[in-house]
Amino acid sequence: MFENLSPTPPDKIIELIGLYAADTREQKLDLGIGVYKDENGKTPVMRAVKEAERRLVAEQDTKAYLGMLGDLSFVDGMVDLIFAGEVAKERICGAQTPGGTGAIHQLCELIRKGSPDATVWYSDPTWPNHPAILKHVGLNAKTYSYYDAATGQVSFDVMAETLKSAAPGDVVILHGCCHNPTGANLTLDQWKQVTAICLAEGLVPLVDLAYQGFGDGLDADAEGVRYMAHHMPEMMVGASCSKNFGLYRDRVGAAILIGKDAETTEVAKGNLATLNRLNFSFPPDHGAKVVSIILNDPELTADWKAELEDMRQNMLTLREGLAEALRRESNSDRFDYIAEHRGMFTQLGGTVEKVKALREEHGVYMVGTGRINIAGLPKDGLDDLAKAIVAVGI
Ligand code: LMR
Repeated sequence: MFENLSPTPPDKIIELIGLYAADTREQKLDLGIGVYKDENGKTPVMRAVKEAERRLVAEQDTKAYLGMLGDLSFVDGMVDLIFAGEVAKERICGAQTPGGTGAIHQLCELIRKGSPDATVWYSDPTWPNHPAILKHVGLNAKTYSYYDAATGQVSFDVMAETLKSAAPGDVVILHGCCHNPTGANLTLDQWKQVTAICLAEGLVPLVDLAYQGFGDGLDADAEGVRYMAHHMPEMMVGASCSKNFGLYRDRVGAAILIGKDAETTEVAKGNLATLNRLNFSFPPDHGAKVVSIILNDPELTADWKAELEDMRQNMLTLREGLAEALRRESNSDRFDYIAEHRGMFTQLGGTVEKVKALREEHGVYMVGTGRINIAGLPKDGLDDLAKAIVAVGI
């Protein structure tokens, strides 16, 4: 049997982990996978997470199964964090999933059950796992152009025109904030326009919200999603706690649905539960319980928010530092967009060849055509990095 299988190469992000690990040079820089790093290059366990884990270990007296939707106090906490009461409780439901990827996967399976012939539109460029999951699940997929590499801005007019050509019932994947890979985000006004298009064309949004708190702040990052949720009859959100709670390997996420009325929402919720059962049964508890403990304790919530805000500010400072270093080094303002972008990533206007040259000649690791993890930037090495970027002709 196994001889019938073809090799499955990892996606470009995962592939880079192996290449970086195999590089024996002392001077190397990992700007690849989206993992937050502090100034010592460490990915810390957040203070509130440590405390919540201490309490969990001390107080947990059983590891018996919970329900198929996971820990409902976690799901409710995520709904409040994302929607802040914008949607009537009877129209919203969710399932705990293993990470944001698990949420996107479950939601894609739900689309296949509810609208097997729908086309799912995703941004070009996007996180490589979007098209990969759509293909795996067997959904029709098309792209909408999102980014103008020459200006570093969202190509909103093209995006809007493309979405107007979608058919009623089609699904649109949107990045809730901190667009991955570009770092170029929709303004609130553009969210309103996309909402109007979805309403006029009968499209269903699927928002991937993996970086809430990493862009302009926890509430500001959810502004567009909240506006949309307030106006759309149906919508889906795949949320991740990997980045904003730093729970990467614990796999904590939520698949959230907004239905047009209480009855359809209840049926959709049952479908989410069944999909969990079919794919992995009960979702993993530990990380979700940690999030629930934090979100249900005002002191821990405050401490978590403060640390998250420090991380966000740190990334902003690094962004500005790199934009400045590149302005000096390139003697131009063509990299100024880096300081305007928000979130964990920025897309440098490179080519695969130039990104390869950076890796081979300078030991700098970037994804694809120049996606960089802002949190991986070296505070004291920005000038050297800018020199290398300009030297390879990016
Ligand atoms: C990334 O884009 O680097 C992260 O979302 C990690 C991943 O799973 O790809």
